[in-house]
Amino acid sequence: MQKEITRQWWKEGIVYQIYPRSFQDTSGNGIGDIQGVIKRLDYIKSLGIDIIWLNPVYESPNDDNGYDISDYRNIMKEFGTMADFDELLAGMKERGLKLVMDLVVNHSSDEHEWFQESRKSRDNPYRDYYHWWPAEKGTPPERWSFFDVESNAWKYDEITDAYYLHCFSVKQPDLKWENPKVRQEVYDLMQFWFEKGVDGFRMDVISFISKDTDFPELPESYNGEFIPFYSNGPKLHDYLQEMNQSVLSQYDVMTVGEAPGIGIDRALDFVDEERNELNMFFHFDLMELDREEGELFLMAKEPWKLTEFKKIHSAWDTVFAKKGWGSMFLNNHDFPRSVSRWGNDSKTHWYNSATMLQTFLLSMRGTPFFYYGEEIGMTNVRFKNITDYQDINTINRYKTAEQNGGDLESFIENEKDASRDNARTPMQWDTTDNAGFSLTKPWLKVNSNHKEGINVASQEGKKNSVLNYFRQMVQVRKDHPTLVYGSYQLLLQSDEEVYAYSRVLEDERYLVLLSFSTKKAIKTITEIVFEKAELVISNDEIYPTKQNNQFELMPYQACIYKLV
Ligand code: GLC
Repeated sequence: MQKEITRQWWKEGIVYQIYPRSFQDTSGNGIGDIQGVIKRLDYIKSLGIDIIWLNPVYESPNDDNGYDISDYRNIMKEFGTMADFDELLAGMKERGLKLVMDLVVNHSSDEHEWFQESRKSRDNPYRDYYHWWPAEKGTPPERWSFFDVESNAWKYDEITDAYYLHCFSVKQPDLKWENPKVRQEVYDLMQFWFEKGVDGFRMDVISFISKDTDFPELPESYNGEFIPFYSNGPKLHDYLQEMNQSVLSQYDVMTVGEAPGIGIDRALDFVDEERNELNMFFHFDLMELDREEGELFLMAKEPWKLTEFKKIHSAWDTVFAKKGWGSMFLNNHDFPRSVSRWGNDSKTHWYNSATMLQTFLLSMRGTPFFYYGEEIGMTNVRFKNITDYQDINTINRYKTAEQNGGDLESFIENEKDASRDNARTPMQWDTTDNAGFSLTKPWLKVNSNHKEGINVASQEGKKNSVLNYFRQMVQVRKDHPTLVYGSYQLLLQSDEEVYAYSRVLEDERYLVLLSFSTKKAIKTITEIVFEKAELVISNDEIYPTKQNNQFELMPYQACIYKLV
């Protein structure tokens, strides 16, 4: 049964994520900035984008590139000033673009005033803003940290003879949401940005804000699962409902939570409209598909299977078929480039697979999130030397491997596919030395393939470019509300070459065919009946076959048909 459709701008909108550090440098320091985003607003508008999600731009010592915030109400100096930010927002409003900011409130920076106070003494008014474990209670129960060389989430702090909790780096102490004052601070700062006119938040590791604060010992059988030790704690939904009531409900805004560890069984707890929490969230099921079990940054030995890829998306679509709303993404600043990971970035298949993946995101139910450079098919950079990497995640895991006498060569092999820096190389605007990103040496090396056609300038004027296909496909989504709101049915379920599905709204039906194969594929659709399939869009030539329900697809070809 199809749910009743409630139209919303954030369901119909197409999101473009900008990692500001890597987008456009205008100040000449090799680091992207807010003026850089302003400079490119017309370009973004020309893509057909409706919403920009900006990774953190707040004041930060940059231990984790802005995910360690030392002042939530100021702009990072490297990125510019509040006046620049206001100019950006005004420029976006003028162009009808919405702005979604990153809300990073599971933790702050250790340089935030709250933490500076908190660590001073055990009776400081800010003491209870963070999780402290007094040393006289003994060593705290083991907790694992993402970015810690020792993988220890407890850091001993001499000043007060106590340990503080940091699920991420030592410079990212976890805020204590159990303290109502902390929650009020967060709601106030959200209000501050909403009053400025921002249109929503992407909420960083939001499922981590509530944890078991008794910190029980990990069971012997513990194998790395987040729940219940790190995330989805007993108060999570109380906090989200309180946040909704206190702030979100007062504005017409969009919210999308990042929710590692949350599977389909818990999904509706976050986004069922009647619960008044969030609009959408990012699940991690796809991001785990090609990784070792419980190891988000370790490539699996076996290649991923298309049937599994389909299974994940089909299962998630079913969850939201009646309630809530989904989000669709193939890469972001934490995961490698989509064409290198889910497509094929060899010279032969790059064009088709990049455009095929765009067709996928733009023909599924759920709001599509594109990551800067995806519109031109940017690929993984695959740095060979540890000295080229800038990401704390790669650098600290390298140090751990070094300390443990691990195999450093295979470590780098893994990072070539898995490192977050693959997705963080500067935006490729043209063929000049720094790809038009900066006039000086960029903070992270540019991918040299900007000289070989993977750049905006070269693709602008070319009819058959990844960039212009993207624009065309965006238009197709906008012209066909069925692609946004229609029901989804998986076809060819057990096929390992082609992902096929239908999208149906009232009497309109579309068939989407996506080849994930390096070979030609001939497929017969038998699950649905139709007289004629009229082509809406394709990224390759069409080969008519004898029967009307048989389709021949070139490697990585994508086609959308209207069925009559
Ligand atoms: C999220 C962010 C990631 C960051 C981490 C800690 O997963 O997307 O970039 O390192 O949280 O804030």
